[in-house]
Amino acid sequence: MSADDIAFAIPYTNKFFSALSPAMLRFVPLLHRQHAGASLPGARGSGRFTYAEFGCGQGLSLLIMAAANPDATFYGIDYSPAHIARARAMADRAGLANVVLLERAFEELRPDDLPPLDMAAIHGIWSWIPNASRDALLGLFDRHMKPGGIVYVSYNTLTTWTGLLPIQKLLYDHAEQSTGTPEERARKALDFLESLIAVNAGHFKNAKALSEWVKQTKSGDIRYVLHEYFVRHWEPTPHSDVARRMAQAKLSFVGTTDVVDTLERFVMAPETAKALAEVPAGPMRETVGDLLRNNSFRRDIYVRGPIPMLPAEWRDIARDLRFALVRLRDRCRMSVSFPVGTVELNESAFRPILDRLAEGPATVGELSAVAGDAQNGSVLRRVVTMVAAGYVQPAAPVDADPGPSQRLNRVLAAEVAAGHPHDVLASPVLGSGARMAASRIGDFAAGRTSAAEGTQERKDLDAERAMMAWLRVGFAPA
Ligand SMILES: C[S@@+](CC[C@H](N)C(=O)[O-])C[C@H]1O[C@@H](n2cnc3c(N)ncnc32)[C@H](O)[C@@H]1O
Repeated sequence: MSADDIAFAIPYTNKFFSALSPAMLRFVPLLHRQHAGASLPGARGSGRFTYAEFGCGQGLSLLIMAAANPDATFYGIDYSPAHIARARAMADRAGLANVVLLERAFEELRPDDLPPLDMAAIHGIWSWIPNASRDALLGLFDRHMKPGGIVYVSYNTLTTWTGLLPIQKLLYDHAEQSTGTPEERARKALDFLESLIAVNAGHFKNAKALSEWVKQTKSGDIRYVLHEYFVRHWEPTPHSDVARRMAQAKLSFVGTTDVVDTLERFVMAPETAKALAEVPAGPMRETVGDLLRNNSFRRDIYVRGPIPMLPAEWRDIARDLRFALVRLRDRCRMSVSFPVGTVELNESAFRPILDRLAEGPATVGELSAVAGDAQNGSVLRRVVTMVAAGYVQPAAPVDADPGPSQRLNRVLAAEVAAGHPHDVLASPVLGSGARMAASRIGDFAAGRTSAAEGTQERKDLDAERAMMAWLRVGFAPA
């Protein structure tokens, strides 16, 4: 989005994205056996780091991460005054002392606005901004990322969006020439598109998928729709182009936070995996992988100067990696739906690990002890499968002071009571957010959580309470 887009006047949705968590950003290079600065010996357990989110929007992800990592300093940059004002008000209410919010365009940031950075993230930015803004971001990465610094970038791939390119341009042009509020202009443009599809002419013959897309888009959150499609600069990109651009800031691709993509047997048929393996490793294999998986969105991790780990270093570092269960234990089923289809996990291999994690977070070394497995690597493979299944997440190296998380959670609960649909709370164990339904947040914060003994409701509540305990998710007193 640029400042002259019709979406600029409308605040974007305020959602939390777990892929941005510092523990996840550290985990991806390790998974690919690459040193990044934040994982070098000595810095491994440090809660002191600097993290910037460029285009932080209203800042929910940033504030949750700041509350859950109180020894780190978080910088949120966004040129929308409404977004920064909202984020600042929430940070102030929660008394978060480690967040700096800057109402600035990327292009306007001065060298002394930001310190050297250990981590940076751009989520929902790269495919929606003009090239000049991308250049500005690359300049910022080049200037501020420390050697070994980690950068997260998400973007739309060309793979599945190509057909939408002329449609998005048409929607944008229609809305620009139209009248009314931004929401009304977006709706009129979508109605116009539907009217073209209905007459079944030329480009719109066999437009079943497009009709479905319009239907879904019309029923979506209009704030999301405006920022997603009604922007002048909408440019899906192949991985190889992004990798080439990131190299300008000396950033090298190491892997993706979509951990499931590293488990090829769960994402594609054997013959497809074989065809992919024949493409030499590098940017082209990633682009071909997107075509084979029909992947429309990437969440990639880059490191400024990754260094391959020696096998002994990797074994040591892998042993200390810490994970937490983020799903109720009895909802962690052995039948898991992966892109390739339903996969049956081996119960005897996975049960001991899940049972141990249901008591609290544990390192790979600790999990190896209960799994009766001397090989940390094979336990790590199972943990990675559970991360891919959504049962487990990388945790912070050590638990942080829970005070700031509890204060932010109190603010989130007050906002839920006022009608905001938050579905996440800060966890000092994850150094990130833990999902919880908005209704439950309201109930737990108000202490309204009881149910008759023996009922399913009681069982669920007890299980949720246990999960809140192992993730140390709580609320400061009202
Ligand atoms: C689609 S929103 C994504 C917000 C947030 N990262 C998320 O995923 O929820 C894009 C954000 O980037 C900001 N933005 C776009 N171009 C910018 C620029 N050149 N300088 C600063 N902020 C910019 C917008 O104001 C908006 O908040």
